[in-house]
Amino acid sequence: MTRIFSGIKPTGHLTLGNYLGAVRRWVEVDQHGAEALFSVVDLHALTVEHDPGRVRRLSRQAATLLLAAGLDPKLCTLFVQSHVDEHARLSYLLECTATDGELRRMIQYREKSVLARAAGEGVRLSLLTYPVLMAADILAYGADEVPVGEDQTQHVELTRDLAVRFNQRYGHTFTVPRATAPKVAARVMDLQDPTSKMGKSHANGAGIVYLLDDAETVRRKIMRAVTDSGRDVEYDREGRPGVANLLDLMAAATDGNPEALAGVYQSYGALKKDTADAVVELLRPLRERHAELAADQGHVDQVLRDGAERARGVARPLVDRAYRAIGLLPAG
Ligand code: TYM
Repeated sequence: MTRIFSGIKPTGHLTLGNYLGAVRRWVEVDQHGAEALFSVVDLHALTVEHDPGRVRRLSRQAATLLLAAGLDPKLCTLFVQSHVDEHARLSYLLECTATDGELRRMIQYREKSVLARAAGEGVRLSLLTYPVLMAADILAYGADEVPVGEDQTQHVELTRDLAVRFNQRYGHTFTVPRATAPKVAARVMDLQDPTSKMGKSHANGAGIVYLLDDAETVRRKIMRAVTDSGRDVEYDREGRPGVANLLDLMAAATDGNPEALAGVYQSYGALKKDTADAVVELLRPLRERHAELAADQGHVDQVLRDGAERARGVARPLVDRAYRAIGLLPAG
């Protein structure tokens, strides 16, 4: 059976980008017919300046939201990364497989290290090694597929390289995984700056739709989305990124096709209004279910305990095998 692994990091409130780029497929496709594991990857949230209490709160909130979105613990395994030691154990072996050059080339490292320096903060070493930990997340489970948005494909490529290199040097140990991306909305853009990705940790929230925003807020953000001074509705991601982003959102929310939708609209105003309505309807059940689940944290914690137990059962033998393969003496 195909095995699937994916993760989400609790560095901010979950966004519409997270939902359309990844979570929706986890719910609608990946947890059915495959052995799927999903993780709130909290260790990754420590790679940039962080507040301990906030990371804890966001981890719980992310898990609650994933359940509200429809992950079903009977169909898949949901857990928190730091509850399963195998991620950190394997990460070290992969640090002994990767080179500093290939990590310094990672786009996210280059972008985020510049930001950290500009803010007068030191660049944490873990920001550089982040993709190695991500590789460990995936390889520890022998995952075949990694459903992610477009921004993560370079990291999955590195994961593949590390798996192949390890296998060649130490004998076949890891499955070489592949990234899968959605057909539409693989890269949702910021509504105020449609040339950059809608990211949960942006300082300015005006261009970001959060999954827990109320209907009025979602409407306002979409109605105020930056477009351009043209009038015709055309799907041109390069030339007209703002309008293309709205068409992507509309298509994703209504299972439509962005190019076909472009022909339906005569004005940006009408497109914005319909997109706002469609996104509000898409998120409504999720928000309602979240309110119910948030009132029952005991249930969420139990799901996470069971999930960690199951995840350990899958990862431990595989990581043990990697320890032996690389030359470490078994504990006896
Ligand atoms: P993260 O937490 O930034 O995002 C979680 C998922 O949401 C997708 N995503 C988007 N998709 C489309 N448009 C956007 N604007 C957008 N923003 C985010 C991401 O591509 C991702 O699929 N490094 C990962 C977390 C991670 C992981 C893993 C993922 C750690 N270990 C192992 C897969 C497998 C990250 O920062 O995702």
